[in-house]
Amino acid sequence: MNLVLVGFMASGKTSVGRRVARRLGYRFIDTDHFIESELHCTIAEFFVSKGEAHFRELESRLARRLSALTNTVIATGGGMPVQPGNFEALRKAGVVVFLNAAVEEIVQRLERDTRRPKVQGGDLREKVLKLHAERLPVYSQADVIVDTKGKAVNRVAGDLIRQSAEAMRTRAQSDAQSAKPQSA
Ligand code: S3P
Repeated sequence: MNLVLVGFMASGKTSVGRRVARRLGYRFIDTDHFIESELHCTIAEFFVSKGEAHFRELESRLARRLSALTNTVIATGGGMPVQPGNFEALRKAGVVVFLNAAVEEIVQRLERDTRRPKVQGGDLREKVLKLHAERLPVYSQADVIVDTKGKAVNRVAGDLIRQSAEAMRTRAQSDAQSAKPQSA
């Protein structure tokens, strides 16, 4: 059983995911960090040298590998669930949880950010509003939606664990069921 965190850039997936993993005794991976360690460069550098389309291919390939993990909290890059077929791959990997952060908080957190190529140059608020509106319908298909507005990491982690408990139980049962040998 895995927990897969989706949501916009700077919505707290990595910090909340780490905290949740610690509390549940799960492993933690962040798909951006995983890709960066395989590439030996940062995502921002990769966008410049190879382009976004190439990054999205790697990201989609990774999304399909995640179902091999167990007892892991997976923080995904903000664009991962949006690529065709990826949301289904994430659902296969585990219970999908959307961290729903307020646009104003996202803009504030991204103001001094130089690591995220999608929001560099031009009007930050405009970019965030546009991308957010495009992606919200995708994120909202998650099994569980956790509202993060005005909450500290610890509080979000607690809410996430509480709100996901039922979905995790149901999922663990159906995983156990499909692992059983079928009687003739
Ligand atoms: C992206 C989000 C980033 C990273 C890349 C593209 C996006 O991850 O994957 O810069 O398209 O939203 P975070 O959501 O961890 O910032």
